[in-house]
Amino acid sequence: MRVIRDPGKLNRLLKGVRRSARSIGFVPTMGALHPGHLSLIKQAGRDNDTVVVSIFVNPTQFGSQEDLNKYPRPLKNDLALCRKARVDLVFLPDSKIMYPEGFATFVNVEKLGDILCGTSRPGHFRGVATVVAKLLNIVAPDVLYLGQKDAQQSVIIARMIKDLNFPVKIRVLPTVRQKDGLALSSRNVYLNEDQKLDALVLSKALCLAKSLIDHGQTDASRIINRIKELIGKKKQARIDYVAIVDLEKLRQIKKINQDCMICLAVKIGKTRLIDNCLITYD
Ligand code: PAF
Repeated sequence: MRVIRDPGKLNRLLKGVRRSARSIGFVPTMGALHPGHLSLIKQAGRDNDTVVVSIFVNPTQFGSQEDLNKYPRPLKNDLALCRKARVDLVFLPDSKIMYPEGFATFVNVEKLGDILCGTSRPGHFRGVATVVAKLLNIVAPDVLYLGQKDAQQSVIIARMIKDLNFPVKIRVLPTVRQKDGLALSSRNVYLNEDQKLDALVLSKALCLAKSLIDHGQTDASRIINRIKELIGKKKQARIDYVAIVDLEKLRQIKKINQDCMICLAVKIGKTRLIDNCLITYD
């Protein structure tokens, strides 16, 4: 496994890979790798000849009051996990190389970036889209791997790829959960023991919604109310949003009679957690 910090060097190296018609799978991360990331890496390895992982805590996607400085950075462990998962190349740039003096170009995916998580995290998705566009240009992968846990991010990146003609396929893989249902997230390390218990209410709320739908409930607002009621019982939980949206434009739907997604953002203490589940019809 090679660790490369310079975008130009990585790009040149990967040109060789492409010239010999070997496919490249790419997993962008901010490090603090957990089994959710590893499932993306493993899938990338099954689908491609070469696997590239980027580890970069991207400052432009953090608001000024957010956790950029305390975001976990267990680099040694991350590199060991990558090695074990048979990653070929780790791209490990620093902020100065990604955003040099004078940097002035941003990618803004309109509308999709302003709703749901975008409401309480203004500018977040602009930062995400910008860094992913840069990474796609540097790595030029055949397939980009993302997790369903960050559903809005995946929809926005898919939109950007389409709108800006990036020649890359996108694969979104299912959320990996603990046995107790908690969706894996690098931010779970912020939770204390009590908060970990309260955080289970996110996946429980999604299970409740699923079972209401399975039993014939089609009224989105009733389902949302039941979710809010359940989450409201937890002392440390503060709801940011609960929404049921279509899968492409993320517009709220009233009636559950099409493929859609139930999405939640909830603060447990100071930690903001998100989760979602897909409702599909075939
Ligand atoms: O999902 C993440 O970890 C980040 O938002 C991403 C896609 C690596 C961009 O910084």
